[in-house]
Amino acid sequence: MTDLFSPLTLRGVTFRNRIGVSPMCQYCAGEDGKPTDWHMAHLVSRAVAGPGMVMTEAAAVTPEGRISPGDLGIWSDDQLAGHTRLVNAMAAMGTVPAIQLAHSGRKGSRLPAWETGPAVPGWEALAPSATPFQGYATPRAMSEAEILGTIQAFADAAVRSVKAGYTFIELHAAHGYLVHQFLSPISNLRNDSWGGDFEGRTRLLREITRATRAVIPDSMPLGVRISHTDWVEGGWNTEESVMLAERLKALGVDVVDVSSGGLDAGQKIPLGPGYQVPGAEAVKKGAGIPVMAVGLITEPAQAQAILDEGKADMILLARAFLRDPYWVVNAAVALGRIEALKIPPQYDRAWGSLAKFKTDPAIGKPLPPL
Ligand SMILES: Cc1cc2nc3c(=O)[nH]c(=O)nc-3n(C[C@H](O)[C@H](O)[C@H](O)COP(=O)(O)O)c2cc1C
Repeated sequence: MTDLFSPLTLRGVTFRNRIGVSPMCQYCAGEDGKPTDWHMAHLVSRAVAGPGMVMTEAAAVTPEGRISPGDLGIWSDDQLAGHTRLVNAMAAMGTVPAIQLAHSGRKGSRLPAWETGPAVPGWEALAPSATPFQGYATPRAMSEAEILGTIQAFADAAVRSVKAGYTFIELHAAHGYLVHQFLSPISNLRNDSWGGDFEGRTRLLREITRATRAVIPDSMPLGVRISHTDWVEGGWNTEESVMLAERLKALGVDVVDVSSGGLDAGQKIPLGPGYQVPGAEAVKKGAGIPVMAVGLITEPAQAQAILDEGKADMILLARAFLRDPYWVVNAAVALGRIEALKIPPQYDRAWGSLAKFKTDPAIGKPLPPL
């Protein structure tokens, strides 16, 4: 049995518990991709309430690798100061500050998620093949030089992430974005060494992983988010994900964050509580690598059960943290684990004791002065 509130150590980094804030695009970084006060408020307000890790939204490794003009970026040293400020604030709250490195591929050149519209003028999206995501503009198939440039862009962004102080990096290879587009036979129609069989389709991610691992410290854990299946007949599937995870592990990846879908509008997703957990379990058991489970995990007992059943090593939540930034505190109360909660003393002296008092009426001690 693994306690949701027990620490997890990957390489030289210890997460204070098994709960993480999943990456969430905010579409408000401005034209230059720099973090704003919104990112400070959004990420730090979650960090203060006790999660083991808070991950930024997908941060683009090149300007054309953004989804929208409002995406966060880490393609330039000019963006470093804003990231450093963000990292310092998150780390001061006791959480592991994490960044997700991403390239949108054929899902780029869009408006923020809450607006609809055509492609952004003058911004041509790139992809393995000139085949669009349904309803989007047709992307341009990447040349080999552009592929090699993208690998270098991920590595350069990783170097910047380390400089900024992030202590965990996740490569985004899920949700139908560029790396996933290379993995899936639905979007990768290339017949060169970057496409075709499993070896060719996984080459981009393997090369990005190799290049990233080579430039970050040995003590720094590296994760990869995958879509374990496209949920489309003939698409990328769980079996391939297990094989991929084995290869990634050999390249120095420490944890796989298992999501699903996002590649094809024809996907048939069996939505329900914890619907992606079987994928996480398959990757964990099949490849023998730690995994993060995510997707409609909303209840503390549900999260604890996933760990108890040995299906994952860490639990990520996205929307539940938007509804309740203090999900971790409330989970500790619900699971009777308030003693294990690690939050800054400013809050702990009030909430920790208060919650303990509430959950255990036998503790007849007076509350500390507020
Ligand atoms: C507003 C929003 C933005 C998201 N942006 C990202 C992102 O930048 N990168 C990513 O990998 N997933 C992103 N996701 C997916 C979440 O990280 C998560 O995997 C998904 O919402 C399922 O978890 P949940 O049921 O706990 O919300 C986003 C989800 C939401 C709700």
